[in-house]
Amino acid sequence: MKLGAPYYPEHVDPALWRDDARRMTEAGLRIVRVGEFAWSRYEPRRGELDWGWLDEAIGILADEGLEIVLGTPTATPPIWLALERPDIRSVGPDGRRRDYGVRRFSCPTSAAYREEAHRIVSALVERYGQHPAIVAFQIDNEPGNHDSARCWCDECQAAFARWLEDRYGTVDALNHAWGTVFWSQVYPSFESVRLPAEAMTPHSPSLLLAHRRFSSGQMLDFLERQREIVRAGAPGREMVTNVWLGDLHVDAREIAAPTGIAGPDLYPDGQERLLLDAAFNLDLGRGLAGQDGRLWVMELQPGQIHFVPNNRPVAPGQVRLWAWQAALHGAELAMFFSWRPTRSGQEQYHAGLVGNDGFERQGLTEARQVAGEFEQAPAAILERPPAEVAVLYDWQDAWALEIDPHHPSLTHRDYVVAAYEAARRLGFEVDVVHPLADLTRYRAVLAPALHLACDGRAEHLAAAADAGVLVAVGVRSLCKDAEDCNVREIAPAGLAERLGIRVVEGLAHYDEAKLAGEGAFDGCAAGGWVDHVELLDGAEGETEVLASFAGATHLAGKPATVRRGRLLYHAASSCESWSALLRDLLGGSPGTADQETFARGDARILLDQSDLSVTGLPASERVEA
Ligand code: GAL
Repeated sequence: MKLGAPYYPEHVDPALWRDDARRMTEAGLRIVRVGEFAWSRYEPRRGELDWGWLDEAIGILADEGLEIVLGTPTATPPIWLALERPDIRSVGPDGRRRDYGVRRFSCPTSAAYREEAHRIVSALVERYGQHPAIVAFQIDNEPGNHDSARCWCDECQAAFARWLEDRYGTVDALNHAWGTVFWSQVYPSFESVRLPAEAMTPHSPSLLLAHRRFSSGQMLDFLERQREIVRAGAPGREMVTNVWLGDLHVDAREIAAPTGIAGPDLYPDGQERLLLDAAFNLDLGRGLAGQDGRLWVMELQPGQIHFVPNNRPVAPGQVRLWAWQAALHGAELAMFFSWRPTRSGQEQYHAGLVGNDGFERQGLTEARQVAGEFEQAPAAILERPPAEVAVLYDWQDAWALEIDPHHPSLTHRDYVVAAYEAARRLGFEVDVVHPLADLTRYRAVLAPALHLACDGRAEHLAAAADAGVLVAVGVRSLCKDAEDCNVREIAPAGLAERLGIRVVEGLAHYDEAKLAGEGAFDGCAAGGWVDHVELLDGAEGETEVLASFAGATHLAGKPATVRRGRLLYHAASSCESWSALLRDLLGGSPGTADQETFARGDARILLDQSDLSVTGLPASERVEA
């Protein structure tokens, strides 16, 4: 795995650029990202393009042997532009235009902003598209972050009406699909469907879901226009868009897929379970650009970060462990954010690899160490074997559950992470994939909270089971339709008869419910979220009950985990219960939440968060380039 760092020459005294570049290569860094926030330096005033400083900076970095990722600067429009064309600024749900002075304040639909973005990206690509040191363009920066995909301006309102017409054809079809007869909110025209602004009660989940889909699509369209310019003017250069997986503002898979490379930013600190949350983000990230897509970690935490509530110190050894974790999860490169911390502005408590004083910080010491370790490691160590288990995750379900969650603390991610964690702790390599991905390549597929019954998902799961894959569907699955309305069929819609069950309702049982059954099932916690399941008439004998509910719940004695052929329904949600199910199906014994294991070649590598150790690396053996 290649290591690197974003670098901001526009913040740094030019007298330091060469020394910085030398120190980067001396530490084993091979790639830098520049320029993604530098519009006001690219073009200080309309039409006055100033490339001198960037020519020089890129020249120095390239002279020192560094590869360069050049950013398009569209996350940070300059103030002169916001003043000149105020309609580039997005509008919030309160109807007010968002102000400049921050980043990402522009509207992705605005014709003026698209025109301006097109103009600056064309100029950038014309200047640097063929530069030999530039290996890739980063398109924009974290699209959607800071809730920047959704906008309530008039242009978005008009575009939304067109989007609805394309999707539903007639307003009657929309009214039918959304069930707008509820509260008498039947729309007379597409134009009358207002973007969901601040209102007296929550809006219809169908409208909110449509708004999410529309907004993510607008952002994708905005990025695609830039990508067309890069494709045409920078042949042979890769493209990547970094994404932040901590929010749901855009469908990150939709954003990454067209480029073949996913670019998640990874800031594990501040997440609940440092090791496994990071592991999940890496596996989710790796699949964003398709099941066999590539993974570039565009930003990796190098030390303390400013945006978490506690801003705790990062222990020695942690940065090295994160870098190893990224590599073992299949990343081709990871960039520590950033080389030097910002001296001014909004992110001053964010560590860099060196300090403002130029002295080396913990991140650089560990980056150097890990760069050396990667160089010494046999190639097989960094080759990830095919995954045996897949876990399904989709923004459609994440949005639907966020919008209408049954309980506010219930998220698609939590459901999915519980199953993911169970599989990882048993030592399985796990792919986190789209529900319609090729599922036949896995031994087992886990579908926790596959909420929406749409797009032939049930048939796809059934086909995988027919092909011999073990398919386990979790709670709250296939119970809403594509518009986030309750299904009319027996849930799980499309699989109920085949499983011989019906889901009566979803319940929140917090921690009281337990499971009873053979082996690891017996006595294990069911998790807060459970489903009340009944066998259909005549299913007894055909549908096997592997575990039942027990403990202080009125579900006691009801089926919790059922199986018919290769298809299962798992009506519990805890990591422990998924682990019991997987052990029943595939065997194994679980490790702790603090550890991740990786079988690589003949080695078994262990990452241990409790003492920050990386063990099991084979004795050093130099690999010739
Ligand atoms: C990312 C962003 C960077 C920087 C970083 C701070 O979200 O892309 O520009 O803000 O977080 O951790």
